Amino acid sequence: MLIAIQQSSKRRDYGDEVIKNKIGLFDARTDFNQTKSMVWFATNPYICTKYIDMFIYNRHRRLRKNESIRSMVRENVLTPQDFILPMFIAEGENVRHEIASMPGVYRQSIDNTVKEIKQVWALGIRAVNIYVKVSDNLKDNTGKEAWNPNGLMQNAIKAIKDACPEMIVMPDVALDPYSEFGHDGIVENGIVLNDETVEALVRMSVSHAAAGADFVAPSDMMDGRVGAIREALEEEGFTDVGIMSYAAKYASAFYGPFRDALDSAPGFGDKKTYQMDFHNSQEAIREAMADVEEGADILMVKPGMAYLDIVRQIKDQFQMPVSVYQVSGEYAMMKAAAERGWLDNDKVIMESLVCIKRAGADLISTYAAKEAAILINNQ
Ligand code: PBG
Repeated sequence: MLIAIQQSSKRRDYGDEVIKNKIGLFDARTDFNQTKSMVWFATNPYICTKYIDMFIYNRHRRLRKNESIRSMVRENVLTPQDFILPMFIAEGENVRHEIASMPGVYRQSIDNTVKEIKQVWALGIRAVNIYVKVSDNLKDNTGKEAWNPNGLMQNAIKAIKDACPEMIVMPDVALDPYSEFGHDGIVENGIVLNDETVEALVRMSVSHAAAGADFVAPSDMMDGRVGAIREALEEEGFTDVGIMSYAAKYASAFYGPFRDALDSAPGFGDKKTYQMDFHNSQEAIREAMADVEEGADILMVKPGMAYLDIVRQIKDQFQMPVSVYQVSGEYAMMKAAAERGWLDNDKVIMESLVCIKRAGADLISTYAAKEAAILINNQ
């Protein structure tokens, strides 16, 4: 802080006129001693009778005075193009099933999904993540339904691209919706196998690319899968299909509602042998580094709100687009509190998303994408 000291005093004892008019301007941090002596000098009643003026040169509130000024100096602003909308696809026709723990989020058949896609596009949203719920009789321990060219995912990709060719379609790549064990990989003796799973993920990714996916989004956290997928895409001629890798995906309790939506909770154990330990942050950098070297185009951090330190570190470390997944449990928490009147829905949604962007996200995958886009468009 700058302190201005004006000494323009009469001497009390003699009743003299101003003997000196000395103005000192000091930076209290760097000119500490000088400031201190001036303060003493100016406050000593025998020498200086007048006063000390302390001007605050930095009045931060000047830039917060009204909304025009605040918006003029605003550092981060959301647009609908920042969002990726996650969508849940169900088998059948005219199916629209609201997910209990995620108000306003539906599991829908392809026909209804396609109708919604057009609204989503009109709102300015340009990308969707897609997840499928396949029936139990298609689940096994190889995950082979995952690369069925006529599978639910592949048909959904085709239908969305037919209806809205410019919509960026990013299917989820992981075996959990297809696994009889509800795990993201192939299981042997209670262990999720890495390399065998990677082979399956490669097939799955190529089948998504063949169906028209713009990006594949591996969310499984097996080692080496980004490189293997990249190589296969190159070999098969899908050189312009991107990889949005879930580079730092933590084993998180915030995924609960998602697993309800897809009925994909692990049948035994947990996902801690492949998803990351939330006590760690350096490990996230190692994971991201490997994915960058293996050819990822976008790095994702997941979950969002409780992991913004990781987002910032990855953004600072790599000159790469970073996406953040505001996951099902985060959405459920905000909705549950808003339903009770404990939080203001619109404000808390917007704040959470802006803060994710401020932390370094270029893209945000969020179940609130549509309502946030509406709020932005109506501003
Ligand atoms: C599955 C997958 C999960 C999510 C995205 N892909 C769940 C999990 O890993 O168990 C979570 C998304 C959310 O909670 O919104 N590979």
